[in-house]
Amino acid sequence: MKHFSYLLLAAGLAACTTAPPAGSPAVSATATAPASPSLAAPVPAATPVVTQKAMVVSAHPEATRIGVEVLQRGGNAYDAAVAVQFALAVALPVAGNIGGGGFALYRGADGQTGALDFRETAPAAATRDMYLDAAGNVVPNLSTRGHRAAGVPGTVAGMWALHRRLGKLPWKEVVEPAVQLAARGLALTAKEAAGLNGQQKDFAQFNPTSAYLRNTPWQAGETIKYPELARTLGRIRDQGAAGFYAGETADLLVAEMKRGGGIITKADLAAYQPRWRTPLQGRYRGYAVLTFPPPSSGGVALLQLLQMLEPYNLRPAGWHAPQAVHWLTEAERRVYADRATYLGDPDFGRVPVAQLLDTAYNRRRMTTLQPRRATPSAQVAAGTGLPGYESDQTTHYNIVDAQGNAVSCTTTLNGAYGSKVVVAGAGFLLNNEMDDFSSKAGTPNLYGLVGGAANAIAPGKRMLSSMTPAILTKNNKLALVIGTPGGSTIITSVLQGIINVVDYGQNAQQAVAAPRLHHQWLPDQLDVEAGALLPAAQDTLRARGYQLNARSPWGRLEIIRVLPDGLLEGGADPRGDDNAAGY
Ligand code: GLY
Repeated sequence: MKHFSYLLLAAGLAACTTAPPAGSPAVSATATAPASPSLAAPVPAATPVVTQKAMVVSAHPEATRIGVEVLQRGGNAYDAAVAVQFALAVALPVAGNIGGGGFALYRGADGQTGALDFRETAPAAATRDMYLDAAGNVVPNLSTRGHRAAGVPGTVAGMWALHRRLGKLPWKEVVEPAVQLAARGLALTAKEAAGLNGQQKDFAQFNPTSAYLRNTPWQAGETIKYPELARTLGRIRDQGAAGFYAGETADLLVAEMKRGGGIITKADLAAYQPRWRTPLQGRYRGYAVLTFPPPSSGGVALLQLLQMLEPYNLRPAGWHAPQAVHWLTEAERRVYADRATYLGDPDFGRVPVAQLLDTAYNRRRMTTLQPRRATPSAQVAAGTGLPGYESDQTTHYNIVDAQGNAVSCTTTLNGAYGSKVVVAGAGFLLNNEMDDFSSKAGTPNLYGLVGGAANAIAPGKRMLSSMTPAILTKNNKLALVIGTPGGSTIITSVLQGIINVVDYGQNAQQAVAAPRLHHQWLPDQLDVEAGALLPAAQDTLRARGYQLNARSPWGRLEIIRVLPDGLLEGGADPRGDDNAAGY
């Protein structure tokens, strides 16, 4: 009880004071069902970084440092985003990249918004069944390891497009810090050393000359240099996107494909285009929520979840108390079922975004919820009645500059170190993003996600993503910038970050550090991080029919929150080497 009082007090101080709407009659009885706040879990204390004007939160201190220096030199948030992206390609080989893709969401100080899709695409030679054997079964590892797992990278074209539209400093100035970082090298963190050590067999198999490969284990604190990557970044600095998609870098990438039986050609590289898309916008308890449209599934799913949860009184129910967990989980189960059926690349098929974001539809989906009993996923399918309608390693950074421009960008190689293929002579890792397609309808991918026709492989198509960069405003003022890696868990981690701040009044560091929960419809289990649920709450949930799955920590949630007095509060996920700084 002592702890619950603390939560109420904290929530009272939160920016969220809007009373939840009544909801449809069908859900109001459930929404006010007696809760069990005494089973609320303790929220660990955590101190956020606070700055006056500008802030960068990223997954590596060197990338954060470079971003802050760009801002201090007069660069804007977009210049800093480009500098951070290239710095992460050096400092964070597990996920930072030039051989992958991502989504950048922005909101300018003038209120203008935009969504830049630099997701990878399937090569022209890709086919729907390319990962199946003669019997129609998925060939293990073909879509996750090695040359054929790679989609056409989008990152460099994305950064070039972002900078051309919104950057202020010269391109060369924002790329140069990463060139220098790669050339002089940097000290490995303990986590990155362990990560590289864990991949030595794969690195040896796919590229015996890469800088990542070593006979003796990497040690924390040891300096690793990347001379080939420095030269590639130098070409990008000097030639822009052409320094990657044409000339020497393209030659080296295609030679690597030939050596390893991959299918990316020079024509694929030349044809790659990032896409400007219209951000999705929703509302939650008085906040406007801006997020990413398809080919992300994350934005649609996040807004669906928020619509489903708004009628429920989460705050008095108690943080991670069984009743609150029940509401969250049942919403997640239903939304991930929709994801598997309806979502894919909007350039290749109709994605019923408006219908999925219809409030009445989402509230109706929750009418099948039993007040105190889990609904088995086998009894939950995608919603029907959508008018006219016939798929862990990623990284995220948030930037807010002194003018108030904000960038929320999630970027990925997909799995840790992507396909494990390093382009010989060019020094960068290629993604294994092809696994985000549905190789075979109903067969789970790397993240256990299932999909169908909407996310089937086709040449030039973008694979469905869960990346969910988001920006919240309140009364038209910037309030929260948020995002995370984590494959299928991205959506639920962003959801919990928002709820932790908005409903439970946690500060930015508490909100990212707090232990998490995750349910994705299939497999029918609730993933539970250590400390997320009190033992008694676990008993209650089991009695209600939930299967609990203890899972090691996931995600690297990053938050910048604008405080009422305009100060910036940063939360950098302690599960990684993440770091918030500014001035
Ligand atoms: N590769 C993870 C995602 O895009 O969801």
